[in-house]
Amino acid sequence: MSSTSIFFLYYCKMVLYVALSLCVLLSAGCLGVTPGVPCGVPVTSSGHKRIVGGHVAMNNAWPWMIYIQSGVDGSNVGSAAVIHPSVLLTSAQVLQTTSGPVKDFRDWKLYDSSYDDSVHANNRGVQLYHIDHVIIHPQYNDTNLLNDLALIVTTEEISFSNATRPVCLPDATHRYATGDVCYLAGWDDQSGSGNAGRLQQVDLPILQDSVCMKHWTDVLPETEICAGYESGHKDFCTGDIGSPLVCQDKSNSVWYIQGVASSGGDCKTADEPGLFEDILVYRNWIQSTMAAAGYTYQY
Ligand SMILES: *[C@@H]1O[C@H](CO)[C@@H](O)[C@H](O)[C@H]1NC(C)=O
Ligand SMILES: *[C@@H]1O[C@H](CO)[C@@H](O)[C@H](O)[C@H]1NC(C)=O
Repeated sequence: MSSTSIFFLYYCKMVLYVALSLCVLLSAGCLGVTPGVPCGVPVTSSGHKRIVGGHVAMNNAWPWMIYIQSGVDGSNVGSAAVIHPSVLLTSAQVLQTTSGPVKDFRDWKLYDSSYDDSVHANNRGVQLYHIDHVIIHPQYNDTNLLNDLALIVTTEEISFSNATRPVCLPDATHRYATGDVCYLAGWDDQSGSGNAGRLQQVDLPILQDSVCMKHWTDVLPETEICAGYESGHKDFCTGDIGSPLVCQDKSNSVWYIQGVASSGGDCKTADEPGLFEDILVYRNWIQSTMAAAGYTYQY
């Protein structure tokens, strides 16, 4: 072997060594390694169509959606949103029964966004998770629904996939305005035909608080968002309680959880807008409560 080719081999080894060291230093990006998935970015677009009444969502369009099945009677009590690999955000009331807070969550089940309610246990490929414990907002008032929020800490870590990704918490730069059209997804049937099956979606415009005050006595404008319709039968149902109201940042197409469904009309008969916990107001509580439980919000 000539001295030139030995030098060449040595040179190649050096280049490889430097490149590998850089990879270790930069690890994200190099070799296709990503530290985690981004929040608020589904692999499938919702389509943004104007829709009339409830509408079956496209696969993977709302990947932060989690179906909550009660361990008491096996019914769908509502939905939650993935905000961390171990933490879901939902309303406090879905984790309570008429006889008070639930003590034992062992038989409760959580399913990912591909769950189909019409075939129940026969959902091939749907991920099942369990509740380790819940953190109800300490000042939750079950009479006027003030602070109707809770965190669910899952037993298993949520595995991110096309069907499962986190949604972003809003910050001061992600505010909603009256007239913005946001979306609510859930497994209850917004059209009233009785069988939702797959995840449904509905588009809901943000309304002035005064519109909700015409329909409801317990409106809490400091902490609630009014959204929906006064006519047209687009509404949410009891099974949609806890579902995230998500709004998209038009500049980067990222989805933010602006609200959590707290109360609305009887979806089958009434034309009444709904009330949503205003997540911008609660962002500090959510983040500090997560941190205290050992889960840092990553975005
Ligand atoms: C809960 O709300 C009801 C109705 O507004 C009110 O009468 C009651 O005092 C509240 N409870 C607490 C503990 O603040
Ligand atoms: C995830 O979605 C992307 C984009 O739609 C697609 O190319 C890919 O095949 C999907 N992966 C799986 C495992 O379905």
